[in-house]
Amino acid sequence: MPARPAVALGLVMALTAAVPASAQLALPPGDLRHGRDFALQTCAVCHVVAPEQLSPRRVARAPSFSAIANSEGMNGMKLQAILSSPHAVMPNLILTPEEASDVITYILSLRRR
Ligand code: HEC
Repeated sequence: MPARPAVALGLVMALTAAVPASAQLALPPGDLRHGRDFALQTCAVCHVVAPEQLSPRRVARAPSFSAIANSEGMNGMKLQAILSSPHAVMPNLILTPEEASDVITYILSLRRR
């Protein structure tokens, strides 16, 4: 038991370090790895969500997550707004706050700077 808090703190610090500054400013950091897994499960039907993703089943006009991440002025607040409002082409896509936070953390990790 006494070792647990230290392990948890180390994990939090490791995750925080992996999150770009833009995400840290806007939102508490989500779980990057869970966000990526979630995106591959839920979003990859339409979007290319990871650079190494094979055989993307792309829907016309769905931008890749790296294009979204690197679009002008993108940040956690914008993604939060996009993901919490109804979306014409993603009608039933309702994320829990945790899923949204994780997937936003993942998308922002694809920013090149
Ligand atoms: C049924 C197909 C489909 C699925 C599933 C889907 N998307 Fe999309 N998404 C689209 C299309 C098409 C667009 C671009 C057209 C548009 O914005 O109307 C888009 C646009 C976006 C945008 C950019 C919107 C903007 O205004 O720049 C974000 C962010 C996004 N999707 C995130 C997600 C996330 C996160 C998931 C998974 C949780 C997801 N999408 C799942 C089809 C999909």
